[in-house]
Amino acid sequence: MSTISSTMLLIAFLLVFAACSPDSKQQQDLPPFSGPEQLTLGKQLYALHCASCHGTLAKGGIAGPDLTVSSFRYGKERAAVVKSILEGRAGGMPSFGAHLKPEQAAYLTDFLLQLH
Ligand code: HEC
Repeated sequence: MSTISSTMLLIAFLLVFAACSPDSKQQQDLPPFSGPEQLTLGKQLYALHCASCHGTLAKGGIAGPDLTVSSFRYGKERAAVVKSILEGRAGGMPSFGAHLKPEQAAYLTDFLLQLH
């Protein structure tokens, strides 16, 4: 009996572990920090998808917060910002995972992070 329940536990553990790994894999797959061309792409993506809420200059004020501030609510590390973009955030930030590829989210993030 106890062998069965520990096997079940092991399976449950493996399932949880497997469910977590795609996320960390996605982070690892991000391209290296953007050069000028990717920053231009990031800027274009920003104008297209984000300026309506965060403002043309990313200073916020419309329907989203200022993204030029020195500290972000959900973290200003590259992976945290990419996560905000791809998965959305509870306070009204929509998820862009269906519209943007992870590398596009990375270009956007690099564009935002150099605004300060
Ligand atoms: C419909 C309006 C809307 C759009 C469009 C939108 N955002 Fe947001 N965004 C928000 C709101 C509202 C928040 C605050 C969420 C919260 O505090 O939980 C937010 C939060 C964020 C955050 C987290 C900031 C922090 O302090 O941690 C980032 C980064 C972000 N948005 C980037 C973007 C990017 C990049 C785009 C374009 C791909 C975008 N947003 C499009 C409304 C929007």
